[in-house]
Amino acid sequence: MRILVTGGAGFIGSHTCLVLLEKGYEIVVIDSYVNSNNKSLERVIDILKSADQTVKFNIKVINLDIRDQKKLDQLFCDSHNLRTPFNAVIHFAGLKSVKDSLIDPLLYWDVNVNGSINLLRVMNKYNCRTIVFSSSATVYGIFNNEPLKENTSINPINTYGQTKAAVEQFLTDIYSSNPEEWKIVNLRYFNPIGAHESGMIGESPLGIPNNIFPFITQVAVGKRDKLTIFGDNWPTLDGTCIRDYIHVMDLAEGHISALEFLLENKNQIINLNLGTGHGKSVLELVKTFEQVNNIKIPIEFSGRRRGDYASVVADNSLAISCLNWYPKRCLEDMCKDGWKWQSLNPQGYN
Ligand code: UFG
Repeated sequence: MRILVTGGAGFIGSHTCLVLLEKGYEIVVIDSYVNSNNKSLERVIDILKSADQTVKFNIKVINLDIRDQKKLDQLFCDSHNLRTPFNAVIHFAGLKSVKDSLIDPLLYWDVNVNGSINLLRVMNKYNCRTIVFSSSATVYGIFNNEPLKENTSINPINTYGQTKAAVEQFLTDIYSSNPEEWKIVNLRYFNPIGAHESGMIGESPLGIPNNIFPFITQVAVGKRDKLTIFGDNWPTLDGTCIRDYIHVMDLAEGHISALEFLLENKNQIINLNLGTGHGKSVLELVKTFEQVNNIKIPIEFSGRRRGDYASVVADNSLAISCLNWYPKRCLEDMCKDGWKWQSLNPQGYN
């Protein structure tokens, strides 16, 4: 099986490439490196070699922006001519900062939506019609403290979420245009954190992290003084927001399960939540991190962050029943593995 992975050098992409290679898939990775580092995939190879020196892994990495239609077409054309067509695509490539998406919507729509249109156009042209798409829980419109089911209405409130929802809608239209051929999974991620247990690959954000977990690990490693917690008066048990944190390796494994689900089943389009189904508050996350790693994280409280919700938790029952998958790692593992990565790599990949 030959799989194209777009954005495979990023945080979730690199962990997924590792699992794909472990499982014997041949992969071609394309990445523009605007928000990732080519060292991540070198480290993936190092991890695999440290487990078994003799095994040969089949990976090709190409610097390519999905908006470059000519190069994308050439890639598919070459694969087609060499009689090594792609069997499926795992599509991670995209920009992911809610904050930046509000500052530069043009860029976000261009990369996330136009880039996806380019990709789907060449996939269709070269008869590759199986795709696993990186979507997000941020597409949901209603957060009323109930676990979110896939049929919850779609109504994202920020540009980033709107681009994800637009690609989901586009995939629905593509599917409807040719339901005999297309196989599509939209994976709606909750809050991926942690790192591979080796500590060799992990999240390496550019600049000041927007998300809580890399912020905590950067405080722990001494890069930042303290964590600011956004709000202490939310309608939750301890007054801080609740999220569904999922170990990035569980998420990576979910992609391989989704891919295999598509390859083994009839044509369809399906949306699946990838979360643990368990909500944890910001204070619980901080306390767990402190306990398992024996490190104090100085905190301060500030006002609520615009656009936050009290509680965002997955109902993951559909993913569990469809995918032969379930999240195996707990919050302690996420905190331990995430700290191992950060402590071994204080500057990330730089
Ligand atoms: N938080 C802080 N301090 C920080 C950063 C975050 O208190 O410095 C809090 C937030 O207020 C929130 C929680 O930590 O309560 C989690 O915030 P993140 O920014 O880590 O994650 P979000 O839940 O806001 O968003 C994440 C991804 C989105 C994705 C969404 C899906 O960043 O891309 O989950 O639910 F769409």
